[in-house]
Amino acid sequence: MSKKTILTGIRPTGNLHVGHLFGAVGNWVKLQDEYETFIEIADVQALTDNFQDPDKVRRNVKEMTLDLLAAGIDPAKAHIFIQSAVPEIAELTVFYSNLVTMARLYRNPTVKTEIAQKKSVFGNQGESVTYGFVGYPISQAADITALEGELVPVGEDQLPLIEQCREIVRKFNHIYGPTLKEPEPLLSETPRIKGLDGQEKMGKSLGNALYLNDTPEVVAEKIKKVITDPSKIKKDDPANPDICMVYYYHKLMQTDHLATVREECEQGKRGCVACKKELIETINQYLEPFRKRRAYYEQHEEEVEKILIEGTKAARKRAQEVLKQVKKSMKIDYFD
Ligand code: TRP
Ligand code: SF4
Repeated sequence: MSKKTILTGIRPTGNLHVGHLFGAVGNWVKLQDEYETFIEIADVQALTDNFQDPDKVRRNVKEMTLDLLAAGIDPAKAHIFIQSAVPEIAELTVFYSNLVTMARLYRNPTVKTEIAQKKSVFGNQGESVTYGFVGYPISQAADITALEGELVPVGEDQLPLIEQCREIVRKFNHIYGPTLKEPEPLLSETPRIKGLDGQEKMGKSLGNALYLNDTPEVVAEKIKKVITDPSKIKKDDPANPDICMVYYYHKLMQTDHLATVREECEQGKRGCVACKKELIETINQYLEPFRKRRAYYEQHEEEVEKILIEGTKAARKRAQEVLKQVKKSMKIDYFD
């Protein structure tokens, strides 16, 4: 039996952080062994709300590729491709846009939340939401169906986008005859990682992330600033590790003497400076293999380019087949 296809994507707007490694991207690394995996660098989607900043998107396509490879995506197993280099996706987006009402787009909870966030950041300018941005769920449906994605590994926040894709597929097949595959979400069970400031989510926009490509010095600086139990003033004050972010990351990193850390903290036998120093070492050790792989690919640019070219070729081959069927079903296959 042939492997099921997984299609997932990520917007190139910044570097991968530890939250990604423990979450979505770490999950893809595991899934690539079991499934035919396509990972899209969603530059067209990134441009929907970064269209004024093409340099940023361009730079991050490269950064994201390096980060994905560093994270353990294996080009021998998974295809990494650039969305804009598969123009069939853009064509499908146009065809699908007839099948989605404006009301339905505005009701999409993911889009709604994102618009609300923009309003809170940009004030009234947030009102100037573009057609392209509101329509990105349609383009994401094109991503998924172009690659015949059967499973889409996503976090909770992306579920409404998969649901919207499923609706488009059903409507398309109903009107034009059975053509497209209906995808299913593959929810990852990985919990959210808290940010350095203790916020529930680690995120680029929140400014509280540890990045895969942070140098050991940057890691040290960031950890030194992490909030500990605020009631602990002196080195030998007893404290509560459960309200300390340093302890939280010790736990996340599965520090082998975690029980000792807790005990010593509770009994006032452990100073925060020493405790942080240990954590800095643990995190740097954890990041080391990622840094090594990243350094390798940074020094082998032609290899990275080849990976993208091959990945995109494989993606395009599938997308062209799908588009051909779609045009046939829609009776616009004039010159095929
Ligand atoms: N919307 C996703 C995000 O913001 C990225 C993405 C683009 C995606 N195309 C996709 C995810 C297709 C799953 C399937 O993270
Ligand atoms: Fe946190 Fe360690 Fe200080 Fe305890 S000793 S409060 S765990 S940093």
